[in-house]
Amino acid sequence: MKLICLLTLLIHPFGLLAENNKTAREVVISGNDAMQFDLKEFSSSPGETISLSFKNIGSMPKIAMGHNLVILKKGISALSFGQRVLASGGNAANPLPSSLLSDVLAHTKLLGPGESDTITFDVSTDTGEYDYVCTFPGHFAIMRGKMIVK
Ligand code: CU
Repeated sequence: MKLICLLTLLIHPFGLLAENNKTAREVVISGNDAMQFDLKEFSSSPGETISLSFKNIGSMPKIAMGHNLVILKKGISALSFGQRVLASGGNAANPLPSSLLSDVLAHTKLLGPGESDTITFDVSTDTGEYDYVCTFPGHFAIMRGKMIVK
């Protein structure tokens, strides 16, 4: 009996830890000098946690070919968001004006060649399509993708 109590005490804290640390789904995406994401679509489940690692695998200088990955809130189109970035003064040094952050679900830093950034965020329980885009000036025309929550 004593042994069982002791075991319960030992196991219980670990059980709580496991519940609090939901396992995150890992998503890995790269961007290159041809302004392409290697992954243009990925799926996720409503409410899950995603750990997204984005890497710039190009070799061109950051000021000419930097990349970021910006996940937009539902209903915000990557194309129109890219245009608003330019209209809001976005540039190579500041590709994501803070005035537009209310439309952003999560975003990485702007990355130069060989750099990577990992972001962790909770997916909405609202199913549907969420656009993502690189907001470095001009890249939104082709550097886009979709997270599909289903
Ligand atoms: Cu880019």
